Amino acid sequence: MPSMANATEGGVGVGQKSNVPSSAKNRSVEQSQSLARKASIAQQRRSLPIASAEKRLVVEVRTHDTLIIVGETGSGKTTQLPQFLFNGGFCDGGKVIGITQPRRVAAVTVAKRVAEECGVELGQKVGYSIRFEDVTSRSTRIKYMTDGLLLREALLDPFLSRYSVIIVDEAHERTVHTDVLLGLLKDVQRARSKYNTTQINSDKVNGNCSAVSGKEGITHCPSYLKPCQGAKFFPLKLIIMSASLDARGFSEYFGGARAVHIQGRQYPVDILYTYDPVRDYLNAALITILQIHLEEGPGDILVFLTGQEEIESVERLVRERIRHLPLSSQNVVTVSIYSSLPSEQQMKVFRPPPPGCRKVILATNIAETSVTIPGIKYVIDPGVVKARDYSAKTGLESLVIVPTSKAQALQRSGRAGREGPGKCFRLYPESVFFELKDSTLPEIKRCNLSSIVLQLKALGIDDIIGFDFMDKPDRDSIKKSLEQLIALGALTDEYKLSDPVGQQMSRLPLDPIHSKAIILATQYNCLEEMLITVSMLSVESIFYSPHDKLEEAKVAWKRFSCLEGDHITLINVYRASVEFIEKSKIKDSRVKAIEGNLKKWCRENFINNRSLRHAQDVHSQIGGHVQQMGLTVNSCGDDMLQFRRCLAASFFLNAALKQPDGSYRAMESGQRVQIHPSSMISGTKPDCVIYNELVQTSRPYLRYVTRIDPLWLPELAPQYYAAQT
Ligand code: CDP
Ligand code: MG
Repeated sequence: MPSMANATEGGVGVGQKSNVPSSAKNRSVEQSQSLARKASIAQQRRSLPIASAEKRLVVEVRTHDTLIIVGETGSGKTTQLPQFLFNGGFCDGGKVIGITQPRRVAAVTVAKRVAEECGVELGQKVGYSIRFEDVTSRSTRIKYMTDGLLLREALLDPFLSRYSVIIVDEAHERTVHTDVLLGLLKDVQRARSKYNTTQINSDKVNGNCSAVSGKEGITHCPSYLKPCQGAKFFPLKLIIMSASLDARGFSEYFGGARAVHIQGRQYPVDILYTYDPVRDYLNAALITILQIHLEEGPGDILVFLTGQEEIESVERLVRERIRHLPLSSQNVVTVSIYSSLPSEQQMKVFRPPPPGCRKVILATNIAETSVTIPGIKYVIDPGVVKARDYSAKTGLESLVIVPTSKAQALQRSGRAGREGPGKCFRLYPESVFFELKDSTLPEIKRCNLSSIVLQLKALGIDDIIGFDFMDKPDRDSIKKSLEQLIALGALTDEYKLSDPVGQQMSRLPLDPIHSKAIILATQYNCLEEMLITVSMLSVESIFYSPHDKLEEAKVAWKRFSCLEGDHITLINVYRASVEFIEKSKIKDSRVKAIEGNLKKWCRENFINNRSLRHAQDVHSQIGGHVQQMGLTVNSCGDDMLQFRRCLAASFFLNAALKQPDGSYRAMESGQRVQIHPSSMISGTKPDCVIYNELVQTSRPYLRYVTRIDPLWLPELAPQYYAAQT
């Protein structure tokens, strides 16, 4: 901080005289900075389009049990509405307003912003809760969370009884969690109004709508929601918020619920297309960034990329190219934002660049609607997005890079016109735009449903096909996931949640297949190893390989690599990092020093520092669950055979056999696949492997692969392989 450096120079030196003690000077500088920031935030809030609608919105929520709110991105829905409702009395008596987000980053950044706007410490009145991170307390009244997390809460408290209002934000994203949540909330709302005594302490909460909330549910309150005797609930207000204009669909789903529109501000955006299709969109994005920087007027640039790896690679290239520009043109800072970015890094995108500097923001589609970043004038849209894809026939789920929809392209270009006229560079020809699909298929139609079906079963919802989904998932997908859950032992042959395996699996915030691995591991004496493995598999790429230093990186990774498989390699990396941290603590125990040393260690070993730290967090979280469940954390020591047998027993659905031509056949689907070249065992080509991911890039590849003995499959998973052969 330059202001502090100046104050120090002027004040602290021994023997120097100053009338004002330096610490007091610093304090006063900080105080005036903080006052200026408060004033600027207050001014920003007042100028948001939603600000003038505060009273109207509070009345709308009082008078309607369910409300659909549609508004242009950046109009202030996510940050302001919960505060309006708080001030309107909806938290009186200790009630909580819950706001769900499809993405972790949005939940975290918005909660931080709102805490700052309210002038409170994060985790007190305003907090957030996402998988593996809970920053709330008993005094939290405005709680941001992921949609998946609220579903998990329903397992513990089926009536979601602390919430007076639940806002499902970004509903247009139609994530699988949002869709399930909508169905569930509809039931919870009905059930709560049925068991509602309507003698709620605050008139403000009920307003004049108690009659509305009392009746509806009586006839069709779902049977899985049965309160304890004497339980009384206050009615639940539901608000569905969406950026795009598909309010009608939501309104119909909620029995003709009222929809209100918030008028946004949008300046004209010039759309530019390429003449021809581009071959390498990363390179095209890089060139466009440099061109804008050198040829266009001031304004920040937002670039849409598909994931962490792309973002990191473009960030490196931009920095490198900028360094070679004349000094006067080096005034560029790059920042990035994507879901797995550790939370302390996420806020950087919101900071204004240094004066005279241009900010280049490299983002995933999170910046489409979930977070609004100020200052953007230019958008670069390569027209692609990473999405889940699933085939019920083969049971395979994969992450694929696909063209965006028209709606997404429009949202992206809109980001350039928030504060003034802007420009959007679409890195594809105009004819391609007209061929794009109008909107994206809801995720529930293109993902493996095992995790969701397990959760619904754990909630007591037995008839999955009959559940009131806004868009029904395909029958085949439901059937496939039921089969998989039976094979994993989570469901009985009668499709009931099994006890204890199914119960335990549903409690872990993991993919069913990972939960199964954790639960089985105690029996194989390797829970310690499996905890590390699952944590490392839960984060984005641990290994980081710059294009120009791939060979160097491979040499560095050799230290950890195990020819038996990538899972053991991951354990080796994790353990080496823990050992390094312990050693470095002896030399210097200050947190900052340890962090700095670890960063250096990661750089030297071509390990992704952010991912590694995230994995450490995940490890301690799952460790907590495991402890609560009373599982013994044992270790197989050097006996990795035990561990590999446990992998086979857990991941038997993901097994692949080598074919005479050297390729592999995924046993469940019959699909021809290859081991990804990044795998440590891609050179040895074992006869039989289990894998963790099937990625579909130029061709289908298996990632995180470990060699197993094919005979283990019928031995360890007879329920599946005896029936298959
Ligand atoms: O939800 P909606 O898209 O309608 O808007 P919002 O997320 O509530 O954002 C309202 C304003 O707050 C925007 O102008 C953002 O620039 C600002 N904001 C911010 O400065 N920092 C954040 N972490 C979040 C929002
Ligand atoms: Mg929003």
